[in-house]
Amino acid sequence: MMKTGILTMAEGLPKDAKEAVLMASDSLPEGTPQIRGYDFNRGVNYEALLQSYLTTGFQATNFGQAVQEINNMIDAKVSSSDGCTILLGYTSNLISSGVRETLRYLAEHKMVDIIVTTAGGIEEDLIKCLAPTYLGDFSLKGAELRSKGINRIGNLLVPNNNYCLFEDWITPILDQMVLEQDTEGTKWTPSKMIARLGKEINHPDSVYYWAHKNNIPVYSPAITDGSLGDMLYFHSYKNPGLRLDIVEDIRRLNSAVVFAKKTGMIILGGGLVKHHICNANLMRNGADYAVYVNTAQEFDGSDAGAKPDEAVSWGKIRMDANPVKVYADATLVFPLLVAQTFAQRQSVLSNKEKEQD
Ligand SMILES: NC(=O)c1ccc[n+]([C@@H]2O[C@H](COP(=O)([O-])OP(=O)(O)OC[C@H]3O[C@@H](n4cnc5c(N)ncnc54)[C@H](O)[C@@H]3O)[C@@H](O)[C@H]2O)c1
Repeated sequence: MMKTGILTMAEGLPKDAKEAVLMASDSLPEGTPQIRGYDFNRGVNYEALLQSYLTTGFQATNFGQAVQEINNMIDAKVSSSDGCTILLGYTSNLISSGVRETLRYLAEHKMVDIIVTTAGGIEEDLIKCLAPTYLGDFSLKGAELRSKGINRIGNLLVPNNNYCLFEDWITPILDQMVLEQDTEGTKWTPSKMIARLGKEINHPDSVYYWAHKNNIPVYSPAITDGSLGDMLYFHSYKNPGLRLDIVEDIRRLNSAVVFAKKTGMIILGGGLVKHHICNANLMRNGADYAVYVNTAQEFDGSDAGAKPDEAVSWGKIRMDANPVKVYADATLVFPLLVAQTFAQRQSVLSNKEKEQD
């Protein structure tokens, strides 16, 4: 005997299957966007193409939401005198990559207020003013590269000679810093050292040349974890005694965030840069705006992979904020994000700067 509701082919379409497949829907809330992508019959219009991302779905939609969130930060920044303090963080490899030129543009036009990066994110910018980084391949063999004195960062190549040039350039600056510490009582911190290096490199391609010129503080509490650390180590034998005070820097960073009227965070990659900016925002019970661009996942419990909502639980992002995470390689996404935000608002942002000067 057949079970209730299940009929054979001869008896007709099974009722349960029909009900399951053709179940009636509730209507979606009014104004719910419809999915629609770009139509190339309109020709190649990059502006319209990027605008269409918002209604394309998946990470394209997250990109569109990140554009909106950054434009909200810029609106808040230009709308009143104390505006919105924008904190920009990025991992070292992004300075190694061509994203450096996008980051330099933001520093050059004083579009962000505070920068946080790791050691490589400082030295690779300065070294690029001395000698280039080259395009290679992810699959180049480590042993062959090592025997030729070539270092690999993903598919980028940095000749080891670049670090020798860096040592020649930085050693007299470190000597001078020790002298100023000993004779003038200068208390060096990582951010003061970065500003000094930006001044000394005196090169318009450098992010930190512009950060120094525009008084944008650059924080890097783990400044010894890179070639800069190697240089400080060697120098400590040649001319010992240089001190860098990380406590003064954390006080400056946290105070700037605590007293800001509003804050926005743009964080490319994870690890130290992400946490350092989020933690500063805990001091004010959360950032008002936040955009993360990274490839990390949350299943391992890492801070790198933690979604914005985890930061809400800590008070690092406000409960009423609309933070966005774009799951993507920042080299693909960040220049496009800037194209749709800061680069289109350059005149309004620079007028604001002139008003404040
Ligand atoms: N060029 C270099 O990468 C370089 C050079 C010298 C020293 N270092 C040192 O290595 C240490 C670790 O580097 P780090 O903390 O800057 O970051 P990292 O390279 O360890 O990256 C941290 C996380 O950020 C995310 N991420 C990295 N690159 C990304 C990208 N292109 N797009 C999206 N997400 C991305 C990933 O989730 C990654 O796990 C630091 O102390 C740094 O100073 C790095």
